[in-house]
Order: sequence, then structure tokens, then C-alpha cells
Amino acid sequence: MKKPWGGRFKEGTAKTLEEFSQSISFDHKLWREDIDGSIAHAKMLHKQGIINAFELEQILRGLKEIAKEIEQGKFQFKEEFEDVHMNIERALIEKIGSAGAKLHTARSRNDQVATDLRLYLRKKVSKLIEQLTEIEKTFISIAEKHIDTIMPGYTHLQKAQPVLLAHHLLAYAWMFERDRERLKEALKRINKCPLGACAIAGSSLPIDREFTARELEFEGVIPNSIDAVSDRDFVLDVLYCGAMVMMHLSRFAEELILWATDEFKFIELPDRFSTGSSMMPQKKNPDPAELIRGKTGRVYGNLLSLFTTMKGLPLTYNRDMQEDKEPVFDTVETVSMSLKIVNEMLPEIKFIKDKMKEASEKGFTTATDLAEYLVKKGVPFRNAHEITGKIVLYCIEEGKNLTDLSMEEFKKFSSKIDRDVYEILTSEGSIEAKISYGSSSKKSVKEQIKLLKKRLRE
Ligand code: ARG
Repeated sequence: MKKPWGGRFKEGTAKTLEEFSQSISFDHKLWREDIDGSIAHAKMLHKQGIINAFELEQILRGLKEIAKEIEQGKFQFKEEFEDVHMNIERALIEKIGSAGAKLHTARSRNDQVATDLRLYLRKKVSKLIEQLTEIEKTFISIAEKHIDTIMPGYTHLQKAQPVLLAHHLLAYAWMFERDRERLKEALKRINKCPLGACAIAGSSLPIDREFTARELEFEGVIPNSIDAVSDRDFVLDVLYCGAMVMMHLSRFAEELILWATDEFKFIELPDRFSTGSSMMPQKKNPDPAELIRGKTGRVYGNLLSLFTTMKGLPLTYNRDMQEDKEPVFDTVETVSMSLKIVNEMLPEIKFIKDKMKEASEKGFTTATDLAEYLVKKGVPFRNAHEITGKIVLYCIEEGKNLTDLSMEEFKKFSSKIDRDVYEILTSEGSIEAKISYGSSSKKSVKEQIKLLKKRLRE
């Protein structure tokens, strides 16, 4: 079959090269954007007097027919036409003849593919932003149900201080809030039109780039035609933002995996979102969480893969850049699916409040409160830390909790300790004693919820 670029060639393409270089097996995903771009381009060519009204009408009709055939699964994408752009153009020419052959006037696949990908990512990123909004709402609504649930907070995965489960869950809501912001930023940069940059240098024909940009609802054109066809920073933005979302999801997934163990027993995972073992009948495994943690690796790989592809490329377009598509398709799909599953599973997770509370009372989690108690009585913090450390050591040796100690025992360590100390040694007392902004008190957690909800409304 003769190639659209066949004029300069004496021989046909090797079958091996066709197989090797084709992108149709994955870039067929861009078919709708490709057709939308062509429609805008054809309208512009007509407005500028480059094609006549009849030709425009034929092109529009042909493209609509092709769209319908693709939608109905009747369209045959062919490897020998390499990519989605040439497959659609070929089909148009077959349908309408010479008018179809005018569509590629003042256009190159270089600006075409950049346009398609921007249109595609604009849709996908908007969807991811919506999904992040949803997941944030889910985290907030579960936090609202757990304003009274106390759990141990950890540093180094060692018990640190009692916190509210709501506080812990809201930490994730804030992460997703920033992910949302990041994607909104990326969206601004995606939403600029490269069409009309042509292969590299622009065109000697009187095209109107502002017009096509408006038709495609871009927020303006890319001012430099060389930049327009060269860079894939907008794809990398998405890959980076996606990697960040996965990192956040993966940390949550890891906590679910830990919390569901017999050792922690903080949660019970829903049966609907767990799997069994083919051999061990007692097993209930946290596979969705593990898969999210696992897929995070792939999504990071996608970012690194395109960074590596781009790093040594001279301007402008190089065929290497065809390698941008599979990673970004994969990232967008993986992140979307992961958000979807967490958002569905989360409301069905049962938090075992008693276990969480009980765990928060072991491991001397209120030792810092004791030190701060002493500070309030005028003891310098370093001394208070030392005194409290000694009390903890004494407890370990005696096999006691802080709350088990008698007034007499406390007095041996510091005369400043009085009866009121017992109030701050319980996990409730510790939490309610927190007064700083953003801390784990109920009041502060309720303020955060208000703040997040306000952000979501904006
Ligand atoms: N399939 C190509 C890609 O994805 C389209 C652009 C081809 N341009 C070219 N000059 N060969 O990058």
C-alpha cells in the first residue's frame, strides 16, 4: 500500500519496520481528538479561503462517517498506516477523494499529535480532578464519623502520641487536596493549542491559529512553533502528578494492609474488597491495597521512562517522542482505577474502635503530655524530658503504665507533679489538652473539616 509520504521513495517499507514503528495499536485511543482537531482545522482552512465550501462540507461529512464507524467498531485500523492520524486521513481520502487530500494542508503530524494528546489529557485530567474531589469528600465524611475515635499516632512505626482517627484520615484529605491543585495547574499548561505550528517552522499559507484554538476551546495558542512541536513537558506534568497521587494512595494502602493484620486489628476489610487463598482456607487478603502499592511502582516508572526518552533529544520533533503515549495512557488509567477502588472500598471498612483506643493507651503515648505538664509548672523542657524519660524507664522496669503510678511514686521524680496529672495521662486527656492550630483536638479537627469543605466549594 502506498504511504501518504511515498513520493520520495522508490521502495516500499519493510514489513518488519511497519511492525516496529506502528503506534496504531495504542494511539487509536486518540481517534476522537484526532477527528475533533481535523474538523477545527478544516473549518479554519475554509474560513481562510484555502478550501471551498463544498470541500469543507465533504470533509466534515467524511469525518463524521468515520467517527460513526469507529464508534460502532466497524472501522478497520491498519498497521501499514502506522498511526491514528494517517489511518483516519487515508480513510477520508478513500471516502471523498481529492477534498480529503486537502485536509493536511498547513498541518503536520507533529502539531497534530501534540494537539490530540493535549485534547485527550485535558479530558482525562479533568476526570482525575473530579475523582480526587470525590475521594476527598469520602475521607471527610468518614472523618466526621470518627471525631471521637482515638488511635495511636506513629513515628518510625513506633507508637508516638494518641490522635483522633479523624485527624489521621484528614491528613490524607489534605494530600488529595494538593493533588487536585497540582492537576489544576497542569491543566492550565495542557490547555494551549499547538495546531498550526505545522512540522516545525509554521506555514507560508494564511492560516488562523487563534481560530482553531478557539474552535477546540483551548485557552490560547502556543506562541513558538518550535516549542509547540518539541516539548512534552505537559505530558510529564501529568505523569508527575499521577505518581504523586499514587504515592499518597500507596501510603494509605500500606496502612490498610498493616491495620488489617491480626497484629494490629484496627480494621476489618469488607469481604467485597478482599480475596481468599487457594490453599489456606482461613485467609482474607487485602489485595486491592497491595495492588495499589504495587502499581505505584509502574506509575513511577512511567514518569522516569518519558524523562529518559526526552533528555537527549535535539529540537524539534523526534520519533522517540512516540514513546510518550503508552506511559501516559497507563498512568491516567491506573490512577483513575486506583482512585475509584479506594473511593468505593473506604466507606465499607470497619474501624475497630476499641482496639484502636486500647493500642493508644499502651506504649507510654502520653509521655510528651507529662513533659509538657511539667513545663506548665515551670520546669525547663529539657529537664522535663529527662524526668519523664526516667519515669518511663521506671514503669518499664516495674511493668506499669503511667496511669498506674501513685502520687508517691510520681513525687520521687518531681515535686511539681500533683493529682491533676492523671487527667492528661489518658489518651482522651492527652487529645483534649491539645490547643495548637492543626492539632489533634476535636475542636481543631472540626475546624479542618470546615476548611476542607470550603476549599471543595471553591
Ligand atoms: N505517531 C507519531 C507519534 O506518536 C505521530 C507523529 C509522527 N511524526 C513524524 N514526523 N513521523 O509521535
